[in-house]
Amino acid sequence: MAVLPATPPNIARAAGVLRNGGVVAFPTETVYGLGANAFDPRAAARVFEIKQRPCFDPLIVHVLDRAMLGRVVAEVPDDAERLIERFWPGALTLVLRKRPAVPDLVTAGSATVAVRMPSHPIARALLASTELPLAAPSANPFGYLSPTRAVHVERLLGASIDLILDGGPSEHGLESTIVALEPRPALLRAGAVDVESIEAEIGTLARGLEGQATTIAPGQAGQHYAPRTPLRLIDLAAVPAGQRARAGALAFREPVEGYAALAVLSPSGDLREAAAYLFETLHDLDSRGLERIDVEPVPERGLGLAIMERLRRAAGK
Ligand code: TXA
Ligand code: MG
Repeated sequence: MAVLPATPPNIARAAGVLRNGGVVAFPTETVYGLGANAFDPRAAARVFEIKQRPCFDPLIVHVLDRAMLGRVVAEVPDDAERLIERFWPGALTLVLRKRPAVPDLVTAGSATVAVRMPSHPIARALLASTELPLAAPSANPFGYLSPTRAVHVERLLGASIDLILDGGPSEHGLESTIVALEPRPALLRAGAVDVESIEAEIGTLARGLEGQATTIAPGQAGQHYAPRTPLRLIDLAAVPAGQRARAGALAFREPVEGYAALAVLSPSGDLREAAAYLFETLHDLDSRGLERIDVEPVPERGLGLAIMERLRRAAGK
């Protein structure tokens, strides 16, 4: 394993690893991904193995452009066209009917495939250099916090990955929003593109997963996005002083007194900024040997929805 700066020669080297069935961690604008050739079931199997991810939880396939999308999906319905036009390249994943070339392992046996076109220049250079769609879940062990920096990947999975490309911190710090189009448009996971902007394009999205093409909810399997330190969602002002000394606090805007460690997500109350620092801050708090992490809820509008979805799962609710 090597962590390499994402220079053109190192990107070319990573592309070679991927073409030979290897696994490469690379930066995207959302979080770091753990990539493999999406057409190679053996390479995809290694991704599941490295993440210790159950095989019923399908992967997201990353494409460079419309031509590459055409190799992965069988058709693009009108609503999907509208969303692609507005949000790609970017942090929106669409669940579309797959082509037979996409192995069952990648989609967990579903007839649909989750696909997105990343905007991150290094992710794009890697896709261009491999000329292959890349199946890439977030580069974290199953159930743990997602990685927003190369060093997170190195710490968590370093020993088992062929190569890690370091492209600096991820811009959004939160995974893509996932939308399914059939049988009707539905939000499968809140994420870095806020739901309101998607609904402005194609109308109201169904919430929840009933009647969707897959029975798998992203992150449905128990606790998810969770640090190893126990985490609870709580009004920080209401926590008695005696419960603070060995715990950490993650506040939204205002600092609080008496905790062993404290982080404030966004003093100005900017939910985009809060989202960008969420995982990074939790990685840090989780490394401090705290007894517990108390997290203050954020308002559930815009990216606040995605933040709260992750925090509830991290708290095991
Ligand atoms: O921002 C992101 O989306 C990052 C970066 C690397 O692109 N990737 C990511 O992948 O978050 P992952 O594997 O951690 O989450 C993908 C989620 C899974 O929870 C899975 O259940 C859902 O997407 N998914 C994948 N294929 C699906 C399908 N055919 N139908 C419904 N959900 C699907
Ligand atoms: Mg993930």
